[in-house]
Order: sequence, then C-alpha cells, then structure tokens
Amino acid sequence: MTSGNLLTDNPELYEARFPDAERLAARWTEDCLRRHGAGPRVLDLGCGTGRDAAALHAAGRTVTGADLSEAMLAHARTHHPGPRYVHADLHGFDLGRDAFDAIVCLDSSLLYCHTNDQLDGFLASCRDALAPGGLLVAEMRNGAYFLGRTDLLDRPAVDEFTWQGTAYRSTTSLSVDRTAQLLRRTRVWATDDGSPPVTQHSAWRLLFPHELRRFLAAHGFEVLELHDGPGPRTERRWQEGESPGRTTDGDRLHLVARRPHTH
Ligand SMILES: C[S@@+](CC[C@H](N)C(=O)[O-])C[C@H]1O[C@@H](n2cnc3c(N)ncnc32)[C@H](O)[C@@H]1O
Repeated sequence: MTSGNLLTDNPELYEARFPDAERLAARWTEDCLRRHGAGPRVLDLGCGTGRDAAALHAAGRTVTGADLSEAMLAHARTHHPGPRYVHADLHGFDLGRDAFDAIVCLDSSLLYCHTNDQLDGFLASCRDALAPGGLLVAEMRNGAYFLGRTDLLDRPAVDEFTWQGTAYRSTTSLSVDRTAQLLRRTRVWATDDGSPPVTQHSAWRLLFPHELRRFLAAHGFEVLELHDGPGPRTERRWQEGESPGRTTDGDRLHLVARRPHTH
C-alpha cells in the first residue's frame, strides 16, 4: 500500500470524483461578490483544478488562482484557461498589496490552516492582499457540527465510480483529533486495474463559528455573513437568488467578511 495525495496528484480524477458540472460553487461565489458590490479582481486561494477560477473569469472577473500543488496548477493552466495561475501557500503569501477586490477560499481550503499561527498568517496575508473594502468569501466544513453528532464519524463511507474505464472504490474514515482540534480523514482507494491500494491522509481544522469571528476581528475584518447555508455543498443545494441563512448548526459554514475602508 502506498501513501500520497491521490486526488491532488490526479486533478482529472478529482474533477471526476467531485463533479460540479453546473459550476454551483462559482455561481454561489459570484452571487456573494455581486450582492456585496465587489470589484473585479479576484484571488481564488486553494484553487485546485481551476474550474471555479475559470467560471469566475467567464463571469467577467479578473482572476488569479493560487495553489500549493504544481499538479493542480498545471492542470488548471491547460484545462481551465483564462485566469492567471500562481504557486502560493495560503499560510502566508504575498501577491501584491491591495491587489485584489476579493479573495475566495472554497471547499474547506481555509481549513488547511491547522494551527492558530497558520490562521493568523492566512488572515494577515489576506488583509494585505485586499484593497480597502475588499471581501473574503469562504465555504468550508463547520467544526460545531461535530458537537454531539457522530453521524459522519461512526462508519467508513464507501463510494464507487468509474473513470476512464477503471472502477474506483474509496473507503473514507473520519476521526476527531481533539488535542490538535483537527478532523482527520483516511481514504483508501482501490481499483480494478491491478494497481496496489493507495491511502490518502488529510486533515482540516475544526473551526467554530465564534472562534472564526474572533480571528477575523483580530485581523480587522468585519463579518457580513456567517451561516450554514444554503450553499453549494449543503444537503439542500443553494439556488440562484436564495438569501443567506441565519444559523450555524449545519455541516457547512459560509463566510463573507470585509476589510474595512479605513485602517
Ligand atoms: C479540497 S481542494 C479544493 C479545490 C477548489 N477550491 C475546489 O473547490 O474545487 C483543496 C486545495 O487546496 C490546496 N491546498 C492545500 N494546502 C494548501 C496550502 N497550504 N496553500 C495553498 N493551497 C493549498 C490543495 O492543493 C487543493 O488543490
């Protein structure tokens, strides 16, 4: 059995495993940007395969996609052209001062900030990169969901799909590391093509809504929206024109925060 990040190393497989043919994540993001009057320059941090960055580009934005994975960036440049794609670490980056009107961080990318120092580095970098009045839009798991609920932890989730003639079976186990305040995931991939199984390890910060508010306030951000949906990855999907919710009980969190106009 080998170890590695199979999906990050195989961006095409990532898109096949997590299809978003209707570009719901990008449409939800564009809706947030429009409702709050964001300017055109957008940074998609943890842009992955580039599909959201390209959809925002198609919506008329001037988009930069940034990711740590060279494999993702190479895929994005080839398959989702339009945006500029750059290598950057969301724990601390410098892509120019006041260079963006909005920073978007989708599908829990923000939660790759595991430690408080990494969260501070991320928010300080975002603040520097955003023009006054600029927006931070993020969509991620909700740490508070796991308080008193074990439905996502009780048993492994098995998923099967076929891609390019090969049948893939993934077995995913989630566990809570209370000391590190992380949600840890082990995913074992097996295929019917004779390759050995691959084990993928990931972890996300278990971030609670009020904790996130305190971090944002410490970096001078004003929270405009923080709610559990509807959103692009909630059980009941967000639909065009729907208003943001008011609770933070569900398994996804949606954030819109603003760098104030005054320092
Ligand atoms: C779950 S994917 C989300 C991709 C994309 N935002 C989407 O919604 O489809 C997370 C992405 O974050 C990237 N990533 C992980 N750690 C990172 C870091 N420290 N800095 C920048 N990107 C990172 C991964 O390479 C991966 O492409």
